[in-house]
Amino acid sequence: MSDGLFLTLEGIDGAGKSSHLDAMEALFKAQGRTVVRTREPGGTPLAETLRGLILEQPMDPLTESLLVFAARRDHIVQVIEPALARGDLVLCDRFTDATFAYQGAGRGFDAKVLSTLEQWAQGGRAAGLLQPHITLWFDLAPEIAAQRLAGARVPDKFEAQPVEFFRRVAQGYEDRATADAQRFVRIDASQARDQVWQQIKTALLARAVLAPHSGAAR
Ligand code: TMP
Repeated sequence: MSDGLFLTLEGIDGAGKSSHLDAMEALFKAQGRTVVRTREPGGTPLAETLRGLILEQPMDPLTESLLVFAARRDHIVQVIEPALARGDLVLCDRFTDATFAYQGAGRGFDAKVLSTLEQWAQGGRAAGLLQPHITLWFDLAPEIAAQRLAGARVPDKFEAQPVEFFRRVAQGYEDRATADAQRFVRIDASQARDQVWQQIKTALLARAVLAPHSGAAR
């Protein structure tokens, strides 16, 4: 058994999760952890190639789900499992919760098929299904997220979706969080950036991911 830790960040586009990754990585490193920072879809050359297709090309929801899980499988085999086996902390911007939220709830694709793909991509291990140990869920009303995103950059295929799509995605995240309350930590992403950062640190301290020193109290 290793003491590797798998931490994911989730939320609808515009919820602000990615803007805290630099600070989180620095905090963990200050506490002596080796951090593997990565993202989905992506994290390997193959998965990054698939990311470009998933984010830009129109496709039906099954094709999209297959590509997302193909990218995830490569990412797990090449990056996540080796890092956890070494005892590293894997800090991953999105994982399978995003598939259930975006392809499942958002696009209305069959959650049972997604669960089967999840078993294929994340199963086959003695320890059972690979899942994050902790998921920080940045919860923000879709209307506010849309305002934050407006004009920020050229939107990709998902960012260009109407607010109704993100209402469904947000509900998808809420359902996932309710079903796995042990793993999920809700972050109120409507607060100011500094307050969101305090919430993140409080959650990590409460879960004993951070020791109460090395800047964690600031
Ligand atoms: P990002 O902008 O946070 O990097 O995420 C990329 C986009 O891909 C975002 O709009 C969510 C979407 N996505 C899915 O639709 N399904 C997935 O499984 C993942 C990981 C991301």
